Amino acid sequence: MYPINRLRRLRNKESTRRLVSETKLTTDDLVYPLFVEKRDKPIEISSMDGVYRYPVEKAVEVAKEVEDLGIPSIILFGIPEKKDEVGSFAFKKDGVVQQALKKINKETNLTLISDVCLCEYTDHGHCGLIKNGVVDNDETLELLSKTAVSHAESGADIVAPSGMMDGMVAALRDGLDREGFTSTSILSYSAKYASNYYGPFRDAAESTPSFGDRKGYQMAITQRKEAIRENNIDAVEGADMLMVKPALPYLDIIRDTSERFNLPIAAYQVSGEYSMLKQSIKKDIMSEEVINESLISIKRAGADIIITYFAKEIAKKI
Ligand code: PBG
Ligand code: ZN
Repeated sequence: MYPINRLRRLRNKESTRRLVSETKLTTDDLVYPLFVEKRDKPIEISSMDGVYRYPVEKAVEVAKEVEDLGIPSIILFGIPEKKDEVGSFAFKKDGVVQQALKKINKETNLTLISDVCLCEYTDHGHCGLIKNGVVDNDETLELLSKTAVSHAESGADIVAPSGMMDGMVAALRDGLDREGFTSTSILSYSAKYASNYYGPFRDAAESTPSFGDRKGYQMAITQRKEAIRENNIDAVEGADMLMVKPALPYLDIIRDTSERFNLPIAAYQVSGEYSMLKQSIKKDIMSEEVINESLISIKRAGADIIITYFAKEIAKKI
C-alpha cells in the first residue's frame, strides 16, 4: 500500500493541528514601540498607518493599555523639542524620554526599554558626533553612556543602544556601573543592518541623515559572518540580550544568532516591514493573517522577543 507516510493525518482537524503545533506566539514575546514628544496632542505618522507620536500624558495611557493587553514591555523613542550638533537633548534630565520613563514607571509595571541613540537628537540626523565629515566612534561613546545613565535614572529597566558604534555595550556597562546602575540591563542592537526598511521610522522620528547614509556604521546587507562577530563582541562586552534588525529579511541571521548564543534574542520587525504589511491589508491585497504569519516566522527562526508595531493588535487575537 502506498503512501505509508501520510502527513495529512495530523492536519485534518483544527484541534489536532493545534496539538502538534511546534511554534507558539504569546503576548509574553512582544514589545510595543512608543514615540513620545512634547506636544499637546497625538499625531499620526503618515507612513505608518495607526502609529502615533504621543505627548507624555497620552503615552502613559497607551502604556496602560499595553499592560492591560498582557504585553510585558514597551520600547521608547523620543522626538526632542530641539535638535543640535551633539544631540544634547538625548541626555537632558527633563528630556521627553526621561519624563515618559518616570511617569510610565509610576503608573505601570511594564518592563521599560529605552532606545539609546543620537540620530533623533542631532540636527544632521546621524547616530553620533560628526568629526571631519564622519561619525566619530569614540567621542560618541561618551554621549551614549551619558544618555543611558540618564534613562536609567529615570526608570529604564533596559537600555538599548542602536547606533552600531564599536564598543558601545562596554561603554554603557561601564557608565551604568559607575553610577550604581548595576541592575540595569543592556539589550544591544547587535546585528543591525543598513536597511531601506527603516524609511517610515525616519519619517516618524525626523531622523533621516541630512548628508550621506548610515553605511559607515550599520552592517552591509550582504553580511552573515560579520553578524556573528558583531553579536559575539557585544556578548563579550556584557550585553544581556542581543538583537537582529530588521527581522523578516534577516531570518537567517536570527537563526544563526539563536543557535550560537545563550542569551535572549530579540528581533525587530521594523517600520518598513510594518507598513508593507499594513498597506497590503488595507488595500485587500493580503488577508490580515499575514501579521500572524510574519510573527510566527520570526519566532520559528529563533527569536525569543519580538519588537513590533503590531503588538497591540496581535495581542487582542492571541
Ligand atoms: C535609531 C533607530 C532606528 C530604528 C530604531 N532605532 C532607525 C535607524 O537606524 O535609522 C529603526 C526602527 C524602525 O524602522 O522601525 N538608531
Ligand atoms: Zn541612530
